[in-house]
Amino acid sequence: MKMKKIIYPAQLDYISSFVKKNNPLIIEMGKFALENKIPILSKDSSEFLEQIVQIKKPKKVLEIGMAIAYSSIRIAKILSSESVVTTIEINKVNIKIAKTYIKKANMIKKIKVLEGDAEDIIPTIKDKFDLIFLDADKEDYLTLFNLSLEKLKKGGVIFIDNLLWHGFAAAKKIPKKYKNSTKHIRNFNYHFMNSKSLKSVLLPIGDGIGLGIKL
Ligand SMILES: C[S@@+](CC[C@H](N)C(=O)[O-])C[C@H]1O[C@@H](n2cnc3c(N)ncnc32)[C@H](O)[C@@H]1O
Repeated sequence: MKMKKIIYPAQLDYISSFVKKNNPLIIEMGKFALENKIPILSKDSSEFLEQIVQIKKPKKVLEIGMAIAYSSIRIAKILSSESVVTTIEINKVNIKIAKTYIKKANMIKKIKVLEGDAEDIIPTIKDKFDLIFLDADKEDYLTLFNLSLEKLKKGGVIFIDNLLWHGFAAAKKIPKKYKNSTKHIRNFNYHFMNSKSLKSVLLPIGDGIGLGIKL
């Protein structure tokens, strides 16, 4: 008998049973984000991002959308001592919390926080990056993606979260609340998958991961 799909809750639980326990600070941050409804990268997407970091061994990482620095710290923890994560965040409350966590994680030297709107900040950055993680508001994805591409080295990797957008990117019926954001994600996915500057794939991990390599 053919199965209709491969991944059911039981299969996800099975995969999760192999996930190693994270360090206490990462667990604490995950709980804080959940309790305070702060969106952070899902567990499986975080593990996938960490694998990419381990393979790519980037010297310079750019993150757009730091929130409370959950993903910034996860990336920074596995970078070599001379590598740096530059991360951009607009929300002042998130920045304050993030700075406390960065200090707690002992990552002040490895995580450089740029405060403000990424749309204004990215064009002022002189560096080029080996890895860019785009995780900001979906309405701004295309603009931020185009700005980011100019800062990505040839052979560099861009990692983008939420491209399946809770499933709505590929759904026929979209709740009113998600109509506008879904329109933006669909438009973004079209541009991302057809970009001549990248070799792009869209992967069904977490909320949908876009992975592009700069040609
Ligand atoms: C999904 S959260 C980031 C989560 C984080 N990457 C993690 O996984 O731990 C998105 C964050 O992007 C920030 N953001 C949205 N638009 C932005 C912009 N134009 N410039 C800078 N930050 C922005 C939001 O304030 C929010 O904190």
